[in-house]
Amino acid sequence: MPPMTQAPAKKRLYIKTYGCQMNVYDSERMADVLAPLGYGLTDTPDGADLVVLNTCHIREKATEKTYSELGRIKELKLAKAAAGGAMTIAVAGCVAQAEGEEIMRRQPAVDFVVGPQSYHQLPELIARTHRALGQRLAADFAAEEKFDALPPERAVTGVTAFLTVQEGCDKFCTFCVVPYTRGAEYSRPVEAILAEAEGLAAKGVRELTLLGQNVNAYAGERGLAGLARQLAKIPGIARIRYTTSHPRDMDDALIAAHGELDALMPFLHLPVQSGSDRVLKAMNRGHAADHYLRLVERIRAARPDMALSGDFIVGFPGETDREFEQTLELVRQVRYAQAFSFKYSARPGTPAAALPGQVSEPVKEERLARLQDLLNEHQSDFNLAQTGRTLPVLFERAGRRPGQVVGRSPYLQPVHIEASERLIGTITPVLITHATRGSLTGQIAQDAMAIA
Ligand code: 5AD
Ligand code: SF4
Repeated sequence: MPPMTQAPAKKRLYIKTYGCQMNVYDSERMADVLAPLGYGLTDTPDGADLVVLNTCHIREKATEKTYSELGRIKELKLAKAAAGGAMTIAVAGCVAQAEGEEIMRRQPAVDFVVGPQSYHQLPELIARTHRALGQRLAADFAAEEKFDALPPERAVTGVTAFLTVQEGCDKFCTFCVVPYTRGAEYSRPVEAILAEAEGLAAKGVRELTLLGQNVNAYAGERGLAGLARQLAKIPGIARIRYTTSHPRDMDDALIAAHGELDALMPFLHLPVQSGSDRVLKAMNRGHAADHYLRLVERIRAARPDMALSGDFIVGFPGETDREFEQTLELVRQVRYAQAFSFKYSARPGTPAAALPGQVSEPVKEERLARLQDLLNEHQSDFNLAQTGRTLPVLFERAGRRPGQVVGRSPYLQPVHIEASERLIGTITPVLITHATRGSLTGQIAQDAMAIA
């Protein structure tokens, strides 16, 4: 692994190990998992940032030792707090497994307990604890936030607008900085969103794109489906889109809304990242490839013309040729209308940065090229399949060439036609006459001309 993937050890970790060889081994694993978060081992709990007691439950005496040690460490925590610092206390091992929450009742200074099957979740548990205490996590991360940005909110100039409804992420994918930099999932109140949407509609906006890092985790009353239904009632609002969605949050109500609500556009950005179950598990995605494919089937049952978009990472640590092939296989089954794909990039401070089996640059390059060839082929096929169809196009702006106007199809494809700028702001049926991988061209459909 290149050394640059390790954050410098600036936080002190004290692990006290009780009991058998198994615990000794587990303590080493915990130190390994925590290294990329900047934790280095120290041999005293005094002043430590994180104290882990890796406990033994074999006899009652061993369990009682845990509680008396916790009493001593609590004093150190109080002393550190008095000096303006912070100490996190975790109980791991067999007492944690057996007594769980009971430990936190008996010793409230304990921040969390973690059983032997869950040590890989330590970074997530620590981050959640720090969030609960209102501590900023972002300071630990480099300023580069390449994967952390939502599209900036546009000033309203035209007929389409972004509208933030949700922020933050609780998913803790092991490659991703967002849960640390953006904090916990937060949903704006329905009333605030409706008021903003009404304001946008009054300025001539006809299409809203609801934004959130996990937009379909929107937790307002009746979820994102309920919100979309209310937004669709606002006079002037004809189209609603949302991005980015997590497969885990794609619930039945939202799927049903796609079948029932005309304003909800048949285009969905639903990242899967990988087609390999082993990789998905190591990514902590919380879904398998098959679960994703069945989800897509259900969505397409509700809305047969649904166009899908995705995000992919190639070269996640340990990804084998076979596992990469599984990603290609998933792509062949879904046939995305468009997609974003990235080479895995180790972000210091994220759990995956410390995983063994970092994939070499040339292998990542080669896999990305193969994946993108396939995605591009599908994108071209999707666009070419529109020729001869008549699509409702929301016209947004004048084109680069004089006499040209540009809008979007329901599937988010740019559509260029030669026509008057008076079409801007209208949804007009367009007969698609020509397509490339990036855009469509056409002319106003005959029956629309008759109406006009
Ligand atoms: N390396 C490569 N791609 C990443 N993404 C997020 N973090 C990383 C990383 N460390 C990608 C994911 C995500 C998109 C916004 O950025 O595919 O869905
Ligand atoms: Fe990052 Fe995963 Fe959250 Fe998306 S769902 S922001 S990839 S942690």
